[in-house]
Amino acid sequence: MGFPVNGDSATDKPYKFLIYGRTGWIGGFLGKLCQAQGIDFVYGSGRLENRSSLEADIAATKPTHVFNAAGVTGRPNVDWCESHKVETIRTNVAGTLTLADVCRDKGIVLINYATGCIFEYDSDHPLGSGIGYKEEDTPNFIGSFYSKTKAMVEDLLKNYENVCTLRVRMPISSDLSNPRNFITKITRYEKVVNIPNSMTILDELLPISIEMAKRNLTGIWNFTNPGVVSHNEILEMYREYIDPNFTWKNFTLEEQAKVIVAPRSNNELDATKLKQEFPELLSIKESLIKHVFQPNKKTDGA
Ligand SMILES: NC(=O)c1ccc[n+]([C@@H]2O[C@H](COP(=O)([O-])OP(=O)(O)OC[C@H]3O[C@@H](n4cnc5c(N)ncnc54)[C@H](OP(=O)(O)O)[C@@H]3O)[C@@H](O)[C@H]2O)c1
Repeated sequence: MGFPVNGDSATDKPYKFLIYGRTGWIGGFLGKLCQAQGIDFVYGSGRLENRSSLEADIAATKPTHVFNAAGVTGRPNVDWCESHKVETIRTNVAGTLTLADVCRDKGIVLINYATGCIFEYDSDHPLGSGIGYKEEDTPNFIGSFYSKTKAMVEDLLKNYENVCTLRVRMPISSDLSNPRNFITKITRYEKVVNIPNSMTILDELLPISIEMAKRNLTGIWNFTNPGVVSHNEILEMYREYIDPNFTWKNFTLEEQAKVIVAPRSNNELDATKLKQEFPELLSIKESLIKHVFQPNKKTDGA
């Protein structure tokens, strides 16, 4: 059931979205989608940790829904958070909670792009088993400061009945020139591990998040395409559709540990809840082909 929005049902009045993360990958993409769909939206100018700046944004824009695609993910990667713990807490913990609290005060649904990198394969959810973590499972990956604090925030946000927590994982988009894109990342690494994971195809799932806002859906959602795909399977598709001469080298998790600071999460999330709400949702491999590789196809073969 959706969150009861102040006054009229949100369906009776035109949508107005307030989006945080204007300069970011997900926030930028979301704005383009709203523009394409003719949805009235504005980007927030406040900083998440500054409550009065968020209240001023809401007072000035009177949104029907707020989207949070702001956060620190670290540059060039989450290892940054290990050496910038206070900055990470300021935005991802204090900031996210402040935004949720302000939205609750105003009776507004907050669609929060969170992370699914708070789980790792274990004996009850072994790699290759097809048994994924469900929405109600307790996070078990605290290997990185980034993930540890994201798991804490997810737990606290369960108390906010106005928040829709979307567990995004290893986001992929059709823009293969974007260095943040998981495909672009792994094609540029010198060596890659080869582990099946749940992933999020943004071209398919960001429009779904807009629809989730329209339906006032709240609570926790595994926000990944059903199933898993491994690094090598993606690189094989890349070779088939994009560059027939592409080659890569694998290395083990132990070897990878030597070139990164904090361990990374590998897991399968169970996407049954999202699939039940959106039966048209494609499996990860179908979505990769339809939304990423077919539109970018450069070879004759595939
Ligand atoms: N990319 C991934 O691999 C991934 C995976 C799973 C989940 N997510 C989550 O999805 C969200 C968006 O990710 P993304 O990849 O789009 O991130 P991104 O490209 O790094 O963009 C982050 C955005 O957050 C804004 N921001 C940072 N600190 C802020 C603050 N204190 N107040 C207001 N805005 C602030 C940045 O604006 P300024 O430039 O003005 O600081 C920027 O627009 C994050 O919460 C991230 O944890 C990402």
